Amino acid sequence: MELNLKGRAISYSEPALFLLMALYGAILAAFDLLFKQRRPQDLLNLSKFADHAFGTFWLMVAPQLAEREVEKGVPALVASASGTIIEIGPGSGNQVSRYDRSKVTKIYGIEPTASLHPQLRENIKRAGLSDVYTIVPCGVQDVDTLRRYGVDQEAFDTVLSVQVFCSVPHPKETAAALWKLLKPGGTMIFYEHVKSRDLISSKVQDFYNIVWPYALQGCCLNRDTARTFREAGDWAKVDIQFSAAEDAWLAIPHISGRLTKAS
Ligand SMILES: C[S@@+](CC[C@H](N)C(=O)[O-])C[C@H]1O[C@@H](n2cnc3c(N)ncnc32)[C@H](O)[C@@H]1O
Repeated sequence: MELNLKGRAISYSEPALFLLMALYGAILAAFDLLFKQRRPQDLLNLSKFADHAFGTFWLMVAPQLAEREVEKGVPALVASASGTIIEIGPGSGNQVSRYDRSKVTKIYGIEPTASLHPQLRENIKRAGLSDVYTIVPCGVQDVDTLRRYGVDQEAFDTVLSVQVFCSVPHPKETAAALWKLLKPGGTMIFYEHVKSRDLISSKVQDFYNIVWPYALQGCCLNRDTARTFREAGDWAKVDIQFSAAEDAWLAIPHISGRLTKAS
């Protein structure tokens, strides 16, 4: 086990920085509701306020996170998506400019955070995808709404998930449901932050995770998402890797890869 005390100290402080930014996002959202939108009643509606606070936080950090993803190979992963695509949790649309337009037939972006929809819509327009991209305003577990939008079983060539499985409420059931949405031979493509392989770092994650989900809309730092994906259904090909550009002891390590559904 590599120690690298200085590197660890910097990396272990990163979740604290995100928590501070989430708090700053909540303060900005409260000011916005009180003084700009003049809707103080929304402060008492927990789900509306949480949506606005998370949206404000995410709009602050999303551009920097998109830049970091370049060296982790995320743009090439997204560009490999083809046919009829489900993008779960597109957020403000960090990934939309990375699609290869010539390979895309239709995209359903399943995004429950309403305060991110205006920026997502703007990025879809900029990427020239307005005619093929439909925003589905619900969580991926909301099967009734998905069905109303025409999201049916065995109808999709690609499922794309970029930093979303940390947040979905029932990861095992959700991964199995996404497997069912894929056509035989379809591909699930992903880049996710996950539980660390390093013992000390995994304990640091467990510690932060006491408050992390409350501050960041259900996000968890310590999920074994590789296992969740592997066990979601019958895959013909499994390719899951920890990011080669990251040290194993990082507090927020990532996996990426693709899974091909058996025919
Ligand atoms: C960390 S952000 C990532 C956004 C985007 N995928 C990207 O690469 O920039 C996580 C996103 O997942 C969304 N999310 C959270 N829970 C979800 C759920 N149950 N179903 C679908 N999306 C969800 C959040 O609203 C947020 O936009």
